[in-house]
Amino acid sequence: MKNLLSMEHLTNRELISIILRAEEFERGEQPTLARSYNIANLFFEPSTRTSTSFEMAERKLGCTIIPFDANFSSALKGETMYDTVKTLEMIGLDAVVIRAKEDEYYNELLEGINVAVINAGDGAGQHPSQSLLDLYTIHKEFGQFEGLNVTIAGDISHSRVAKSNAIALRNLGVNVRYLCPPEWAGDFEAHHSWDGLIEDSDVVMLLRVQHERHAVNSGFSKESYHEQYGLTVERASKMKKNAIIMHPAPVNRDVEITSELVESERSRIFSQVRNGVYVRMAILETILKGRE
Ligand code: CP
Repeated sequence: MKNLLSMEHLTNRELISIILRAEEFERGEQPTLARSYNIANLFFEPSTRTSTSFEMAERKLGCTIIPFDANFSSALKGETMYDTVKTLEMIGLDAVVIRAKEDEYYNELLEGINVAVINAGDGAGQHPSQSLLDLYTIHKEFGQFEGLNVTIAGDISHSRVAKSNAIALRNLGVNVRYLCPPEWAGDFEAHHSWDGLIEDSDVVMLLRVQHERHAVNSGFSKESYHEQYGLTVERASKMKKNAIIMHPAPVNRDVEITSELVESERSRIFSQVRNGVYVRMAILETILKGRE
């Protein structure tokens, strides 16, 4: 694995190997990189979890983090993504972690760039490191994937998490169902009511309503969305004994999920965040070792 751009590029074998390595890191195993690598985190869109989780993973791997502030970079003067990354390569970086507004921004980096590129989210495209930490969380819970029922509910068409997880979960033999208002389904065949979905779900994965990607006057009502599509206490009470609740976060409390469920017994929402550090260590180690 030379880069991590989209879940489409990963084989089941590669993603299972990342999950197993993350498990070893969680158990306390030490990284095995030959040297300290130079890494920059280029976040052109806001982030709390992904940016700090990558930085923590980089520190735990003994990498040198070269500061890069997208809001004070020459990208604001119109420098292209290619020229930005090539510049960092010439300065001596080994890898860049990038979040950008444009879907598939990484296509312009496929030719002529020699640093490793890790996609930390591209527009409404892909979010592979989130998907891998979601898979890790599910694997920790159930030990395998085949035959599980996963319901993904929320802002599907704007969600890079839904797209990345759809590919990976299907490849792993998971039965994935989608739930959203008809206008948010995009290319997905989605359900528009919880009927028949809650009782047999092993995982209910909520997605954030991405208000910033919706028209200001879309007529969206938080209350009616919560009533029709949100995970309420009443709905959660019908879940199977061992079923879990997931959400990539940030969470709109009382919109896609009732606030008191966020830290309920079934919820793995904050565990997902912790798992993300081990998974990102595994991703970075795999990619950097592949270049040794
Ligand atoms: N889940 C996720 O990508 O969160 P951030 O936007 O805070 O990184």
